[in-house]
Amino acid sequence: MRLMAVVLAAGAGTRMKSDLPKVLHPVAGLPMACWAVERALASGADRVAVVLKHGRELVEPALASRYADNPRVVFCTQGPLDGTAGAVLAAREHFHDFAGSVAILYGDVPNLPQEVLDGLIRLHADAGCPMTLVTAHDPSPNRYGRIVRDADGRPLRIVEFADASAEERALQEVNVGLYLVEAAFLDRALDRIDDSNEQQEFYLTDLVAIAAAEGTPAAALVAPDIAPLHGVNRRSELARAEAWAQARLRERWMDEGVTFLAPDSVRLEVDVQLSRDVEIAGGVSLLGRTRVGSGTRIEPGCHLRDTTVGDAVTLRAGVYAEETAIGDHCAIGPWVHLRPGTQLEEGVRIGNFVETKQAVFGPGAKASHLSYIGDADVGAGANVGAGTITCNYDGQRKHRTVIGRGAFIGSDTQLVAPVTVGDGAYVGAGTTVTEDVPEGALALSRCRQRNIDGWAERKRERADNPDEPSS
Ligand code: UD1
Ligand code: CA
Repeated sequence: MRLMAVVLAAGAGTRMKSDLPKVLHPVAGLPMACWAVERALASGADRVAVVLKHGRELVEPALASRYADNPRVVFCTQGPLDGTAGAVLAAREHFHDFAGSVAILYGDVPNLPQEVLDGLIRLHADAGCPMTLVTAHDPSPNRYGRIVRDADGRPLRIVEFADASAEERALQEVNVGLYLVEAAFLDRALDRIDDSNEQQEFYLTDLVAIAAAEGTPAAALVAPDIAPLHGVNRRSELARAEAWAQARLRERWMDEGVTFLAPDSVRLEVDVQLSRDVEIAGGVSLLGRTRVGSGTRIEPGCHLRDTTVGDAVTLRAGVYAEETAIGDHCAIGPWVHLRPGTQLEEGVRIGNFVETKQAVFGPGAKASHLSYIGDADVGAGANVGAGTITCNYDGQRKHRTVIGRGAFIGSDTQLVAPVTVGDGAYVGAGTTVTEDVPEGALALSRCRQRNIDGWAERKRERADNPDEPSS
């Protein structure tokens, strides 16, 4: 059976009360509409036509960037926003001459399980009906379309909440908004849908009544659980969808050997990759394309975005890292800010209140306390003392600092870039380094200390006898 898909993502999403189009609101870091596209691609659709309209100038680039390398994903534009049937019509050029089935997915059902879509495809192939839909039982069915069945239990029609009688509203079998339709039937039936209903919209759901009227009623797959099939129309439903997605992601990683010490407080995004024996404490966010190697421990409150962490690393509380690479056996934190372009090789130690940016630390290098290291190369085994600052910015441009292998930078040093400290060189505490330090040398730039004997005693005497002339 040949398969293509249409994803409906043109609606305004008014009930979200947002400047961001509804289908771009992320769930587990992925725009809602992408979840539908991913499912359709995974089910083997030759083509996935995404129907856009509201906020197209924002939605299309967001989706196109994710599927830039995938010619199967194409975009169509709906005319007036006149309902879900109108949206499908916008993709007509793709199914008009298509000899196969069309899966229709709504772009606001982010947790749709792949098994449900795959089950729908199997049932449709077996049932031999012009269309098959997915329904579910919902004890508080709210505003969902209700499934009306005939005396033999076959789907007769879907009645939208706005049009339903009290009796129909009492029905608890609902339409979740996922269909598989023969392209020829779809192409023909769409022309028979009108907008003579309470909302004056063209309802895609009318397909069910058309199939029944033609004497070939739809088949229905009754999903075992409505929870993952809830559509998102308002913020409370977005929060519920996010919680569901998070729980699924955590379960997936637990099955791969990850320990969560306070599972409900951890946020993961969909593209994050974890490994065996990773331990994650509470309040941790792992976002974007973050990867964490095996045996790594992440203490409370860490926030990592697009960051790669090696094996057996310790991230103590409050590590905030973006676009950073952390090698095996590093120990970082607590309270550390690793900004984009930070690269820490194996066994690096970064201690409390250190900020780094575009900084490469060689194996075993250390910066243990209170430092800013930006636009710098720190050689293997070098020790950066407390309070060291790279002065990388002259008000116009950024400059690089190079610290050689095994160099020792004393506490409270300023390195005025561009500047190089040679391999094995020492910089005395409190030095302002403005010139390169040769390999193996000691740099000192502080005035010689002078001790004035008895000065404190004399100061006290003056304070006690303010009228006496000073001696
Ligand atoms: C729809 C169904 C309802 C079902 C529910 C499940 C219809 C008529 N009703 O109602 O039976 O129980 O979903 O969640 O289909 N869209 C467009 N263009 C439009 C209108 C909508 O692309 O002109 C898109 C939206 O972006 C959204 C999807 O279609 O992704 C569903 O639209 P929405 O308005 O949320 O429909 P519901 O009222 O939830
Ligand atoms: Ca909806």
